[in-house]
Amino acid sequence: MAVTYALEPNLSVSEFVHILKSSGLGAQRPIHDLPHLERVLRGSDIVVVARNDSGGIVGIARCITDFAACCYCADLGVAESVKRQGIGRRPLKEVRHAAPEVMTLHLFAAEDAVGFYNALGFRGSGNAMTIAPQKLD
Ligand SMILES: CC(C)(COP(=O)(O)OP(=O)(O)OC[C@H]1O[C@@H](n2cnc3c(N)ncnc32)[C@H](O)[C@@H]1OP(=O)(O)O)[C@@H](O)C(=O)NCCC(=O)NCCS
Repeated sequence: MAVTYALEPNLSVSEFVHILKSSGLGAQRPIHDLPHLERVLRGSDIVVVARNDSGGIVGIARCITDFAACCYCADLGVAESVKRQGIGRRPLKEVRHAAPEVMTLHLFAAEDAVGFYNALGFRGSGNAMTIAPQKLD
């Protein structure tokens, strides 16, 4: 199967939902809240899409970045049917090309994906922290 990778800033919400579901990412996302997903997509700085030779979406990387210091990869997913074929690593290379000056790429790895990120050279950072922002109100 030939797979192509391209920046798609105007990816539709319906295709976004499709890849969230087919990759398994949808389990942690509000996939029925389409206005929310529209804001998520339109607020992203880099959206890389992998498509098969029929044009179907088989992978995605979605990032927020300042194009200088840091880039946060918010979604990386590959359709279940084509996992372990080398597709997952490629969208990250496209992110690298789209933001070549970025100094650090950040993400939170799903437990099942830790081996994948380790294989790519990512290393865990023990002091990463998160908070639900309303706790700061
Ligand atoms: C994680 C994910 C994106 C990997 O995509 P993929 O296309 O299957 O990965 P690749 O085929 O490009 O694999 C790249 C390397 O990682 C390794 N790898 C892939 N998945 C792995 C796993 N679960 N455990 C250990 N190594 C893994 C591959 O063997 C390969 O190593 P190699 O280059 O030495 O052969 C994909 O499994 C996925 O979409 N998972 C569900 C969603 C998810 O958890 N995303 C991450 C959220 S943080």
